Amino acid sequence: MAAPRFHTLEIAAVRNETPDAVAITFAIPEDQNDAFAFLPGQYLTLRADIGGEDMRRSYSICSPLQEQGRRTVGVKRIADGRFSGFAQTLKAGDRIEVMPPQGRFTAQIGGEHNYLLLAAGSGITPCLSIAKSVLAGEPDSSVTLLYANRNSASVMFRDDLNDLKDRYTTRFTLLHVMDEEVQDVEIMNGRLDAEKLESLASHGLIDPASTDAIYICGPEPMIRSASTAMAAMGVSDDRIKFELFTPAPGAAPAAAPRPKAANGQGTNGATHGASVDIILDGARRTIEVNAATDTVLSAATKAGMDLPYSCAGGMCCTCRCRIVEGSATMDENFSLEPWEIEAGFTLSCQARPDTDRLVLDFDAQ
Ligand code: FES
Repeated sequence: MAAPRFHTLEIAAVRNETPDAVAITFAIPEDQNDAFAFLPGQYLTLRADIGGEDMRRSYSICSPLQEQGRRTVGVKRIADGRFSGFAQTLKAGDRIEVMPPQGRFTAQIGGEHNYLLLAAGSGITPCLSIAKSVLAGEPDSSVTLLYANRNSASVMFRDDLNDLKDRYTTRFTLLHVMDEEVQDVEIMNGRLDAEKLESLASHGLIDPASTDAIYICGPEPMIRSASTAMAAMGVSDDRIKFELFTPAPGAAPAAAPRPKAANGQGTNGATHGASVDIILDGARRTIEVNAATDTVLSAATKAGMDLPYSCAGGMCCTCRCRIVEGSATMDENFSLEPWEIEAGFTLSCQARPDTDRLVLDFDAQ
């Protein structure tokens, strides 16, 4: 299977969600329906030239599975976020490069289930897609959404959420937790952390133990705290999915710091670059990679190659490839499963050669 590639899509609509967040809807031409087929919970990677830099960022789809011909993402402006700031200036009719849906934080729609969704801030976007898709596609399932924000002004997709509440009165429960605004029900005030979740469970507002699937999306501390709380309440790992929602710090894949050997060289000990063969779309090209200063992705980018990537932070798996020969070590890995590492997969945005020769196949699935 070919590595994911960008397509140019036209923006059909832009809607202000909060003072610092917009919902951007892309029109999907009929001949690209298959390429942009998705599972609820997946994201799109957007790409733009901003100030002469090739920048890309991933934003979760908030559309329901049942919606045809359109995909909407939510983009919240972050402090000093060049791409998220740029995204706020987009308007209907603009055209932008978009990579087909990716991601493993997904729900397979069908059957009868009891879902618990835990979202913080812009982490609502994939949870909204899951909630809408489940409620429309699983008539006997129920969804409880616990949504944490600073205050009511920062609540994204308020209209969509109220609409779900009105439409699915017996199957959808929405609970807002706010830490900078006092709500009438005392227990709903404060941060969404392990203590809060335990308290909500002890008051019968959530029931993780009887939930079939729990989806958690937000900043890393919230995910860790919520996962710990769920485990303490007897929820097995296989029922918990989480999406690490941390924006990449820089525009281009960075040469992340890496522990060096005592001699100051990379752990492969090479004073020269390792020779790395890259197989992509059936073609092979060889580049030099100095493990002390570059990941495979950053070296390939410097060499003018256009490898698939999105977060450049070890979180999304867009840059996944298989080691065919040699070995490499990843700086970070937040996304590859143990079986994938066992099968020889690595993340090129994190991989540094351990051997003088390395062959990586981006076409391997
Ligand atoms: S680009 Fe996201 S994990 Fe490598």
